[in-house]
Parts: sequence; structure tokens; C-alpha cells
Amino acid sequence: MLRTQEYVEKNKEQFLDKLFQLLRIPSISADPAYRNEVARTADEVASQLRLAGCQSVTVFNTAGHPIVFGEHIIDPALPTVLVYGHYDVQPPDPLDLWETPPFEPVIRITETHPQGAIFARGSCDDKGQAMMHVYAFEAMVASGELPCNVKFMIEGEEEVGSTNLATFCQENKDKLSCDVVLISDTSVIANDIPSITVGLRGLSYVEVEVTGPNKDLHSGVYGGAVANPAQVLCDMIASLKDDKKHILIPGFYDDVLEVSAEEREAMNTAPFNKQKYMDGLGVNATMGEEGFTVLEQTSIRPTLEINGIWGGYIGEGAKTVLPSKAFAKISMRLVPNQKSDVITSLFAEHFTRIAPPGVKVEVRPHHGGEAAVTPSDTPEYQAAAGAMQKSYGKTPIPVRGGGSIPIVALFEKVLQVKTVLMGFGLDSDDIHSPNEHYGVFNFYKGIETIPYFYEEYARLKK
Ligand code: BES
Ligand code: MN
Ligand code: MN
Repeated sequence: MLRTQEYVEKNKEQFLDKLFQLLRIPSISADPAYRNEVARTADEVASQLRLAGCQSVTVFNTAGHPIVFGEHIIDPALPTVLVYGHYDVQPPDPLDLWETPPFEPVIRITETHPQGAIFARGSCDDKGQAMMHVYAFEAMVASGELPCNVKFMIEGEEEVGSTNLATFCQENKDKLSCDVVLISDTSVIANDIPSITVGLRGLSYVEVEVTGPNKDLHSGVYGGAVANPAQVLCDMIASLKDDKKHILIPGFYDDVLEVSAEEREAMNTAPFNKQKYMDGLGVNATMGEEGFTVLEQTSIRPTLEINGIWGGYIGEGAKTVLPSKAFAKISMRLVPNQKSDVITSLFAEHFTRIAPPGVKVEVRPHHGGEAAVTPSDTPEYQAAAGAMQKSYGKTPIPVRGGGSIPIVALFEKVLQVKTVLMGFGLDSDDIHSPNEHYGVFNFYKGIETIPYFYEEYARLKK
């Protein structure tokens, strides 16, 4: 991979320029107003993939946003790597909290990124990380050192649940046949502490609506006698956890696969500085399920969180009003072997049951997904570990991630193939938050590491 690495070294500027072009297009999948921008991003990804040397590139239209699919088969006898990533991004709101506009990428030096970080929505999640694969591929093709067949599937609906991608996978099993799925959409512990993600949580997401009186009322004339849906919603949500932050929905923990004491001990040896963690978030304490460390609370334990809550008057000044309705968006992160649809029904049944007289409650399920485990005793993990060993000079630590990439469980189910989660972001890169950024070091480290993965994987599969 010597020539490949030389090519990478010589083309760093060019790779960064190409990434910047993509970051300038606002591919916000959740907002219908950006439909054309999302499509334009798909075309730009496809065109960069073609320029990188990929033999066949197609943009597949779906009922939602397009899927970019590329195929480069050099020898059917060689193993095939399927690279998955997403070019869609989260909405950038709240806009006024961005120091520079979300779709005008700039490099700024920060404390965690002394070599500079690219500030833009999608820089880390996931345009920057997905495109590292395209540029690493370009380097391997250009230097004649590509050791595997490659397929690329870069989608535009990850941030909205990948519904159409799931259908696409079920309908195109042959097209997607591969030996391993490789994804960079997670993080490392720190730039000098490489790690590989060996598990992701599942997700159940619901929206609830509590309705009281048939219209907004004067809070003096009626308040005190009529159920206030905002108050009722708060009471109902508060009752979902006890003071140990244990979730009280009956059956919620029934399917949770308890992690052994040894495994818990091992995971807690991962470097973690609680004071630094709190300082970075501007809080003076952490809060979570009793009996578990922060690392455990954010990986092997299921959670229930309010993502948004509203109702009544939220404009300037004070308006005395007893609202007719109140709403909340609630997510539950799941662990093996909880099932997303089972948890959604348990929530819906329980939440409807605890509604007091005087209100009506509706629970509307959103997208969900299953947890995934990507064990460390497989050749694909070993290939990733070997690759990081080469580029970082250190053995990576296996860690379980707290976020979700629902398509991973589906790849395993539908394609019967294992995934490697070799991400290069940092948890502090503010993905989904204002001022999302991705280290220039991380971007180049990824491009350097990926060819080593191919090399190691081809060697291990021989
Ligand atoms: N890349 C993230 C998931 C992630 C981030 C995993 C960091 C591990 C560490 C992904 O784009 C994402 O945000 N997923 C969503 C789920 C989806 C169904 C909307 C999530 O985790 O909230
Ligand atoms: Mn992502
Ligand atoms: Mn995301």
C-alpha cells in the first residue's frame, strides 16, 4: 500500500476540496423543502465516485431520496467489501447558534483539533466519513493496489429511518451480495486512543398527544377545575421512571440481554475522564440509571428520553391560557435483545393506560430500529484492528456505541453479512448539534486507514 499512501499524501488538498463541494449542498432529508438539494447531493456523490474510478455507478430513485450505488469488481474470486454511508444530514437548527453558516464549510483550530476541524453540517455525520471511503478507493485504484472488489451504497435517508433503503436491500439481495459491510459513521475514543464500535443501540421513537378541553381556555376562569394537558403530560412522563432512573413501563426490561460482570469490567477499563466529560457539556453532575457507569449508561443500558415537548403559549411575554393540547417526542434507545416494535407497543399500551380521566391520549409511532452487535472475534474485526494498528500505531479498543444505525441489523438479517463499524469521529464533534465539525486529522487518518483494511481483509480471507 506504499503507492496508495503516497497518492493519499499528494492528494490531500484535492480530497478536502471535493468534500467541501459536497458540504455546501444542504441535503436535509427530514425537510421536504430540500428535496432537490438532496437529489443534487446524490448526483455529486455519484459523480465523485465515477471520478474516483468506480466502474459502474447508478443513482437509484426511491419513494423518498435517491440511493447512490457503485460497483467495482476486479476479480470475482476476491472478497467483496460493501461500503455503506449516508449523504443526508440532520436539520441545522437552531441556526443562530452556529458560529459560521452550516453549509459554508470552514476550517478552524480548536482545543480538541489542534490541526484544525471542518465546521459544517454533515462534516462528521456522515459526508466527511463516507467520502473518506471514496477518496481511499481513488487512491487504491490510481496506484493499482486495490486488493478487493468494492460496492458502495451511499443513501440519503439515514437520518429519517432508512425506510426505502430497507426495501431496496430486500429487493436487491444479489446486487448487494458481499463478504463484509464497512461503515464509518461512529467515533473513536480520542485521536490518540483508537477504538472500533462493536455494538449499536436500537431505537423506538414515538410522538404523544394529550388533549384536554376542546379549545384553549382562560387559565383563571377555568384553571383549577379542568385537566391541563401540559401538566398531565408532565405528570405522565415523570411517572415513567423511578428516582433511580429505572424505566417503569411494564415489560420494558424483559428482553434485555444482561451483560456479564467480566464484560462490564472490561468495558470500564476504556479511558474515560468524568470531570472532562462534564466540563465539555457544562454540567456539574451526570444523571442516569443508578448502578451503572456513564460508559454503561450510554451503551449497554436502554433509555427513555424526551426529545421535544411543547404545548400552550410559547411566544413573547405572558399569555394566561390553559392549553387544549400538549405534545412530546420520546425516544427509547434499546439494547439486545429488545425488539423495537414490541417496545413501541408496550409504551403505547402503558401510556394510554395511565392517562387520567379528563384527557385523551394518542401515541403515534415513528421510525425504529434494532440494536446490533458486531463482535470482535471475527476476521472483519481483526482486519479493522490490524488497519488501525498500522495507521495509529496502537491496538484499537472495542467499544459499544450509544447511537443507532438501524440498517446494520437489517444487513445482517437480509444479506446475512457482518458489519465493521470503523468510524473516525469524536463524540465531541457535535453531530446533530450546532457547530458540527470533523477533525482534519480524523479525515486524513480515515483515508490512510481504509486501504489497510482492504489489505488486511484480503490477506485474512485468503
Ligand atoms: N451516525 C449516527 C449514529 C451514531 C453516532 C452511532 C455516533 C454511534 C455513534 C447516525 O447518523 C444517527 O444519527 N442515527 C440516528 C438514528 C436514526 C434512525 C435517525 C440516531 O442515533 O439518533
Ligand atoms: Mn450518521
Ligand atoms: Mn446522524
